[in-house]
Amino acid sequence: MRPVIVALDTDLKRALSIAEQLREEVAGFKIGWDLVLEAGLDPIRRISKLGQVIVDLKLADIPYVVNRVVNKVVEAGACCAIAHGLIAPSLEPDQRIYLLVRMTTPTLYDDLWRQLVPTAGKFRGAVAPGNAPSTVAEVRKVLGCSARIISPGIGAQGGKPGDAIRAGADFEIVGRYLIEEPSRISQWDKLKPTCWNSI
Ligand code: XMP
Repeated sequence: MRPVIVALDTDLKRALSIAEQLREEVAGFKIGWDLVLEAGLDPIRRISKLGQVIVDLKLADIPYVVNRVVNKVVEAGACCAIAHGLIAPSLEPDQRIYLLVRMTTPTLYDDLWRQLVPTAGKFRGAVAPGNAPSTVAEVRKVLGCSARIISPGIGAQGGKPGDAIRAGADFEIVGRYLIEEPSRISQWDKLKPTCWNSI
């Protein structure tokens, strides 16, 4: 198993083909708006049979609604879902939720992500930018191994395979770079998660 989560931002036919191809090679898959808008919960049900699934709708709603959405995706087979760190103060600790603490692109998180990081320890983990390894390293220093760190921004957004892992992430989230050429998975040979063995 390579420490990679494949972001299946593509159509369902291609997503299923990539998931079949890479299921033994990677830690899991990430399903977002693309597949959910195409086919609802069905992609979550089908791809969960091939590997662990994180659902990334970047939730940013009131706890009542967030809990209902998380319940639905977990019932469909996902392990967990990603929520915006901005709503963390209103959420109860929840091992089914990853908290986005800083993005790979410029956002207002750039001014407040350090405030959010300790809170991520009450959740399944943090999403931190893989194209900014110094941020990942700082997040790991604060969290220790109390929570997972998963990191997008590799390949299409400039991060090099392994950059985020070496900085302290457990798994790198990779979309376009692997969807374009699944054989690139060999670039993660010999890399291991920093703390956690499952997503
Ligand atoms: P690519 O194709 O750039 O896809 O490898 C990245 C995946 O990660 C999700 N995601 C983020 N992407 N900044 C990102 O660039 C973030 O902060 C972030 N958080 C999650 C994105 O939705 C895509 O599936």
